[in-house]
Amino acid sequence: MIMTLNSQFQRDCEAEIEAQGSDQSLASAGREWFDRANEHKYSYHFSWLGRPIIQYPQDMVAMQELIWAVKPDLIIEAGIAHGGSLILSASFLALLDLTDGIERGEMIDPRASERKVLGIDIDIRSDNRDAIEAHPMASRIQMIEGSSIADDVIAQVKDVSAAHERVLVVLDSNHTHDHVLAELEAYAPLTSVGSYCVVFDTVIEDLPSDMFPDRPWGRGDNPKTAVWEYLKSHPEFKIDKTIDSKLLISVAPDGFLVRTA
Ligand SMILES: C[S@@+](CC[C@H](N)C(=O)[O-])C[C@H]1O[C@@H](n2cnc3c(N)ncnc32)[C@H](O)[C@@H]1O
Repeated sequence: MIMTLNSQFQRDCEAEIEAQGSDQSLASAGREWFDRANEHKYSYHFSWLGRPIIQYPQDMVAMQELIWAVKPDLIIEAGIAHGGSLILSASFLALLDLTDGIERGEMIDPRASERKVLGIDIDIRSDNRDAIEAHPMASRIQMIEGSSIADDVIAQVKDVSAAHERVLVVLDSNHTHDHVLAELEAYAPLTSVGSYCVVFDTVIEDLPSDMFPDRPWGRGDNPKTAVWEYLKSHPEFKIDKTIDSKLLISVAPDGFLVRTA
């Protein structure tokens, strides 16, 4: 992960993260914890600034670190659900504006800010849309309803993206291999060099094969298999393993893709 400090403390942290990432007994304790927490639908029980968010707290902190390091002016997110992750991203962009404003000695009007979140979902329920549009972060958020892999949706996203300089991409919609691979083909190229394409729910590959009996995805057919396939022909992306080693408990192992070229 991009580091901004170069102190002894930072070097100690890097060594500790590497060590914990190769601690196999800790990894196996984490997997056991994960399987048991999943039985309770752990990831559904959090909210961000009042909106339900379907993420792990560890991944939310990772997103904060990425957004602070990359300083994107556009975050593209496939998969809105209740809107919590859009609000999370928008609030981190608001903090970037706040710190920019403090440095420049002038406050940035959120409605005039360049920093935006673009969300896509095949089904934006009216109660979710109303709540997102009524939220204090709403001025930063634009939503497109439609399948993230439909040609017209991809064209709209590309249009919006063309007006921005530093783009970060988050994929968290339909979790089948084919769908995520198609999303990667469409949206990963919009990721700016030095920024990230984050693919959520890669962890499905590591979970018991009977964990999602009512879903079209499972072991062998999920976001992680799509990431592995995509990377075979896209050397400009690398998995940032330091994030996995840091988080240990995450729904996105092998899913934090940094664009290096
Ligand atoms: C896991 S939820 C998203 C959670 C959200 N990112 C969060 O963290 O709170 C997945 C969402 O993907 C949407 N979805 C499913 N298939 C889709 C598709 N083909 N295109 C776009 N969105 C899709 C679903 O409607 C659902 O709202």
